[in-house]
Amino acid sequence: MRSYFIAGNWKMHKTVGETVSLINELKNSLKGVSHKVLVAPPFTALDAAVKAAEGSNILVGAQNMSNKESGAHTGEVSVVMLKDLGVGCVILGHSERRIIYKESDAFINEKVKLALVHGLEVILCVGETLEEREAGKAETVVNEQLEKGLSGISEDKLPRITIAYEPVWAIGTGKTATPEDADEIHASARKKIAALYSQAAADAMLIQYGGSVKPDNAKELMAMDNIDGALVGGAALDSASFTAIARFDS
Ligand code: 13P
Repeated sequence: MRSYFIAGNWKMHKTVGETVSLINELKNSLKGVSHKVLVAPPFTALDAAVKAAEGSNILVGAQNMSNKESGAHTGEVSVVMLKDLGVGCVILGHSERRIIYKESDAFINEKVKLALVHGLEVILCVGETLEEREAGKAETVVNEQLEKGLSGISEDKLPRITIAYEPVWAIGTGKTATPEDADEIHASARKKIAALYSQAAADAMLIQYGGSVKPDNAKELMAMDNIDGALVGGAALDSASFTAIARFDS
C-alpha cells in the first residue's frame, strides 16, 4: 500500500522572512497530517526553512543542486552544502531546468546519482511538452526520461526516489491534465519501472502529479489508482491553498 506525498515547489518566490512566516503558518495548519509533506523554498531561504520546520511534520527540500560535489562551478550549490543545512530531499529534472537551462537527461542522471550517494531523497520530474502530447508521444517521452534519469541506479535505491509527472503544458497555465489522462501516464510510467526493475519496485514507487494542482482538483486527482501525491507550484505559495491540497483527504 503506497502512502501519499504532497510537495510544494516554491520556485523563485519568497524571501527569508516570507519563508519563515509561511512555514510557521503551515506548522499549525498541517498538524496531524499523516502523509508526507514537503516544502522546497529557494536556496537562500533553506537554512531558515529547516530551522523553522524543526519539530514539525514538514520536510524541507531544495529545488535543484549541482552535478558536482565541489570545485570551480560559479553559482552552483553542492549536495554537501544542502546536507550541511539539514536538507533531506532535492527536486531534480524540473521542466523549467530542462527547458530554460537546457539540462539533459544525462546531466540530470548525474545529479540523481550524486544526491543518492549522499543520502538525499530525490523527486525526479518528468513530463512531455504540448507539442509532444499532440504528436501522441507523451508516454514515449516520459518513459525515455525515466529510463535515462534512472540509468545506473540500483533497485535498492528506489525507495529514496519519488517520480513527479508534470506535463509541461499544465504547469502554471491553469490547465490540468484530467485525472484520467494523468492516471494513464502514471500507469505507463509504473509499467516502465516494472520493466526496468521489478513489479514490486513499480508497485512501491510513489508517483506525484504536478501541473496546476489546486484545492478544487486535488481530491479527484489523488483518487486515481496511480496518483500518489502532488508537486504543487503556485498553490503552494499560500498557506490556505497548500493546506487544503495537503488535507485533500480530510
Ligand atoms: P503549478 O502548480 O504552478 O502549475 O506548477 C507546477 C510545478 O511546476 C511544480 O513543480
